[in-house]
Amino acid sequence: MATIDEIAPDIFRVCEYVPEFQLQFNCFLVRDEEPLLFHTGMRGMFPCLKEAVGRVIDPATLRHIVWSHYEADECGALNEWLGVAPHAEPACSLVGKLVSADDFSMRDVRGMTAGDVLTTGRHRFRFIPTPHLPHGWDAALLFEEHSSTLFCSDLFHQFGNGMALTESDLIGPTTAAMEQMQQGPLAGYLPYTHHTRGLLQELADLRPTTLAVMHGSSFRGEAAPLLLELDSVLRTVFS
Ligand SMILES: [Fe+2]
Ligand SMILES: [Fe+2]
Repeated sequence: MATIDEIAPDIFRVCEYVPEFQLQFNCFLVRDEEPLLFHTGMRGMFPCLKEAVGRVIDPATLRHIVWSHYEADECGALNEWLGVAPHAEPACSLVGKLVSADDFSMRDVRGMTAGDVLTTGRHRFRFIPTPHLPHGWDAALLFEEHSSTLFCSDLFHQFGNGMALTESDLIGPTTAAMEQMQQGPLAGYLPYTHHTRGLLQELADLRPTTLAVMHGSSFRGEAAPLLLELDSVLRTVFS
């Protein structure tokens, strides 16, 4: 069964923990005039995630389904969600739309570019292309201006079944997780590129106060220093 927790006003973390991987898979639901879901989860998780979302809103009223990059945990269950939400519009980066989503999605996909804004009522989502951060040519992140929430996908990945929201430093747990990943079959998880530092600086300049993390606890507090510190973690582990 998935858990659902409000990590900021009207922003809910929907969490499915997979003990075999010691890993949480989190989607984020934003309750607003036009409800938005960030990440769809994998197809096999859909019944549990839908039931959890249904504790907060009628899933049929979803209007926006957004993801960072083309992977099963990010958008695998897209068509399942579109099947229950007739007015939902999928949205990802223009690169993601052109190279993957147009072929995969049963409904037209909105291709977003730098500076695009998606408004859902009280919430305003700024779209930030971040190629190869966390990974994937098509990668992008969302920043919600009203709550200063950064939806940061795989950044700050932590193992274990931690609490929904923490104010503790994420750098220790995410460093341990990156080192663990680098030792196993999924090595090379987050590439360190010439653009990594600049992209993390751009995210830090937004001064987020909530980090909506896909794998592990979300964070509340001053996040800019963590984003800058993440640069040295990634450089050390992956370059
Ligand atoms: Fe990913
Ligand atoms: Fe992920």
